[in-house]
Amino acid sequence: MATILMTGAAGTIGQMLRPRLSHHELRLTDVRAGDGIDALDVTDAAAVEKACTGADAILHLGGIAGEGPFEDVLAVNVRGTERVLAAAVRTGVPRVVLASSNHAAGLYSRADAGPAGLPDDVPARPDSYYGWSKAAMEQLGRLYHDRHGLHVICLRIGTCRDRPAAPRDLSTWLSPDDAARLVEAALTATGWRVVWGVSANTRRWWSTTGGLAIGYYPHDDAERWYRQCGEPDLTAPANQLVGGDMPTKPLGTP
Ligand SMILES: NC(=O)c1ccc[n+]([C@@H]2O[C@H](COP(=O)([O-])OP(=O)(O)OC[C@H]3O[C@@H](n4cnc5c(N)ncnc54)[C@H](O)[C@@H]3O)[C@@H](O)[C@H]2O)c1
Repeated sequence: MATILMTGAAGTIGQMLRPRLSHHELRLTDVRAGDGIDALDVTDAAAVEKACTGADAILHLGGIAGEGPFEDVLAVNVRGTERVLAAAVRTGVPRVVLASSNHAAGLYSRADAGPAGLPDDVPARPDSYYGWSKAAMEQLGRLYHDRHGLHVICLRIGTCRDRPAAPRDLSTWLSPDDAARLVEAALTATGWRVVWGVSANTRRWWSTTGGLAIGYYPHDDAERWYRQCGEPDLTAPANQLVGGDMPTKPLGTP
């Protein structure tokens, strides 16, 4: 059991993880308070530092979870993450798990994946300002690991929802239970790492190596919902690229 500060706890993934990580002592925080969740804006350095004190780990989910204006993703995702990492060092929290995204590497295609799949830590190739902010978060994590020895595990999450719903999800789905397994594994991992956040999908084309290295063994497979999702058209760029149709959308528009 660990004491975990969770940011962004009111969001989709936070709500999925809350019951699944309840054997830990959870400090639930979000910019939107309520229902057992304390108010914490991750851009408020003093408040973040106060919230971190005495925690064993920080699970940093809070932020803008899709494309947005450059200044907004810079302020919330990048500066907010810097506040979290700096507070961890100042208060002696040894480990931060960062919610990165597939969009940090969204412009790689299936052709870039070898037989073992696209490596977890393939160099960033963002498909949007959002993806760029996630790449910047990963690199801030690396800086704090290299300079301060903080363990920082960056999860390049695919599509985390209750059930897969679209053709692309057959490859990219991360089930809620596997999300909890992934976070549990990340809570004991060491170093600076980038790991795909994806379930054991039959059609997965992202590597399993990074996950296995930290003891993440996914159980779920989106294929069970194949009929509801529909067959992906693999000639469409949205099914060729890591980031799906994000690159077809205008930069900075939510
Ligand atoms: N759900 C997915 O499929 C997916 C995929 C890739 C990455 N991610 C990442 O995982 C994290 C959680 O995703 P989600 O789907 O739960 O998103 P979400 O939008 O449902 O939740 C994000 C939460 O962050 C909070 N937040 C926003 N600004 C904040 C601030 N300044 N301080 C503190 N909290 C703030 C929001 O109020 C919200 O509750 C995000 O960082 C997202 O980018 C999610």
